[in-house]
Amino acid sequence: MKISIGADHGGFELKAELISFLKNSGHSVIDHGTNSADSVDYPDYAKSVAHDILEKRADFGVLICGSGIGISIAANRFAGIRAALVTRKEYAILSRQHNNANIIALGGRFTTVEEAKEYLTLFLSTPFEGGRHEKRVCKIDE
Ligand code: RB5
Repeated sequence: MKISIGADHGGFELKAELISFLKNSGHSVIDHGTNSADSVDYPDYAKSVAHDILEKRADFGVLICGSGIGISIAANRFAGIRAALVTRKEYAILSRQHNNANIIALGGRFTTVEEAKEYLTLFLSTPFEGGRHEKRVCKIDE
C-alpha cells in the first residue's frame, strides 16, 4: 500500500521508526517531514497528508504530534478525512471496522515504538465492515 506520513517535532522520532517499519513490511511511503526537534506547526503536516489521501496519492495516512490530538483535529477539518486518534489496540481495529478511518493519528510522546507498530499493523490490515456503518460514515460528510 501507499502510505502518506507526517509529524511535528513531537512525533518525528516515532515517524522515523514507523517509516522503516512500513518499508520493511513492503509498503511505499510518502514522507512529509518534519525531521528534527525544531518547532513546527502540526496543521501543516495534517494538510499535506490529508491532500495525499483526498487526491488518491496514498491509500492511508499516518499523523503524529506530541499527543496526537492537535494533528487529528486539524486533519478532520478536511471533508472526506476520517482521522482516528489511536491509543489502544481496540481503537485501531474499530476505527477501521466501524468508521472507515483513512488516517491513524498517534501521540509521539505517549506511544511506544512497539505499541505504534502494533496499532499501525492492525489499522492497515482491518477492513471496513460497511453495512449499518456505511450510512453513518456517509452522514459525516453530508
Ligand atoms: C507541540 O509541543 C504539541 O503541542 C503538539 O505536538 C501536539 O501535541 C498538539 O496537539
